[in-house]
This record gives sequence, C-alpha cells and structure tokens, in this order.
Amino acid sequence: MRLFLTGALVMLLLILVGLLFYLRAGYLDMRADIAPSRFESQSNMRFLDASVDRRAPDIASPVEPTDANLIEGIRLYKANCSMCHGAPGNPEKNFGHPFYPPAPQFMEDAPDMSEGENFYIIKHGIRWTGMPAWGSVLSDQQIWTITTFLSHMEKLPPAAEEEWQKPPTPPVQTTGGTPPSPGQEIPEGTPPAPSAPQ
Ligand code: HEC
Repeated sequence: MRLFLTGALVMLLLILVGLLFYLRAGYLDMRADIAPSRFESQSNMRFLDASVDRRAPDIASPVEPTDANLIEGIRLYKANCSMCHGAPGNPEKNFGHPFYPPAPQFMEDAPDMSEGENFYIIKHGIRWTGMPAWGSVLSDQQIWTITTFLSHMEKLPPAAEEEWQKPPTPPVQTTGGTPPSPGQEIPEGTPPAPSAPQ
C-alpha cells in the first residue's frame, strides 16, 4: 500500500513537472487566430456556465420592456456592443471574429441565458476572453436596460424594430468643419474672421 502511494505521488509530481516544462518552454500555442479545440470550447462553456450560475442574481430585469426603454437599450447596445456582437447594419463586417474564442454573433444566435445571468456577464465581463467588464463604464441601470433589450431582440415591437434597423450613424466630425458661407449669420461670441487684404 505504501509503495503504491509513493508510486502515485511520484507519478503526479512527474506529470506536474512535465506540464510546467511544457508551459515554460513555450510549447503552448497562444495565438488567437487558430480555432479553439472542441475540448477547449466545450469545457470553457461548461466552466463559465457553472461559475455564472453560482454567482449571478436570480432576478428578472427591473427595466420594463416599454418602447422607450427598448430604444434606449438599442442605442446603448449599438454604441458599445454591436462592433463585436453584430447589428442589422453590420452583421458580418464586425470586430468579433478575431477574438479567441470569437464573440458570439447575436444576429444569428440571441443570448439565451436568464436576465440575471446576462446582467452579471455584461457587468463583470469574462476573464481570458475579449468580453470587457462594463461595470466601470455603464451604470447598473444602463446594463439592465441593455439586458431587457437582449431578451426581446428577436420580437421587438414596431417602434423599437425601426430603431434597431436604422443604419449606423456616420461618425461625428470633431475637427475642421466648413467655414460659414457668405451672408450666413455668425452666432454671437464668434470672433470676426480676419478680413481679406483689399
Ligand atoms: C471587444 C469585443 C466585445 C465587446 C465590445 C462586447 N463583447 Fe460581449 N463578448 C465578447 C466575447 C469575445 C465573448 C465570448 C466569451 C466566451 O466565449 O466565453 C462575449 C460574450 C458575451 C456574452 C455571453 C454570451 C453567451 O452566449 O455566452 C454576453 C451576454 C455579451 N457578451 C454581451 C455583451 C454586451 C451587452 C456588450 C456591450 C455592452 C458586449 N458584450 C460587448 C466580446 C465583446
């Protein structure tokens, strides 16, 4: 019995040393542009589900799915999430694919977890993935508003659907601008433009 235990212990130690050597010598492939193995994605999903299950609040979103709240959720989602998770305006041309694991595409597959679990994931992010923790950027109220939108994204009422389908607004111009045209009223407080030499 003692011999067996010693043998098992030595075996365990050898495995640990081997593993440490494997990692320290750089054999683990850390590239993000290779597909995750089936084992990796399945275990990752299972461990994540278990962890979120244990910690997420077991409540529904306190934000009612009114038109106004859904539209607010859509605006927050488009500004913060659509570049990775997709929106009608950019179903393919988004930034979610280069991640390891890739960001789930909500246009193909809406998130199907409970609202408490979605809230928890959005607020705290997911370690070792590209999913950021939004709790330091958005308020709890805003995160619940996005959560309410996510659980209704597949069956939106007409007013919200219209907002959802709107193409992305072009980026706001922050420098330069067009000079006022002749005759255009210049708002008070604007210094007069230098007059051209006569
Ligand atoms: C920079 C890219 C990026 C941004 C921006 C981003 N996410 Fe994610 N998100 C990810 C990645 C990558 C995952 C996948 C993590 C994994 O597979 O474990 C993920 C996972 C999720 C999940 C879990 C989905 C599931 O089915 O397992 C939810 C919910 C989610 N994100 C919501 C959001 C919301 C809401 C926002 C905006 C507030 C957002 N994400 C912004 C990259 C992003």
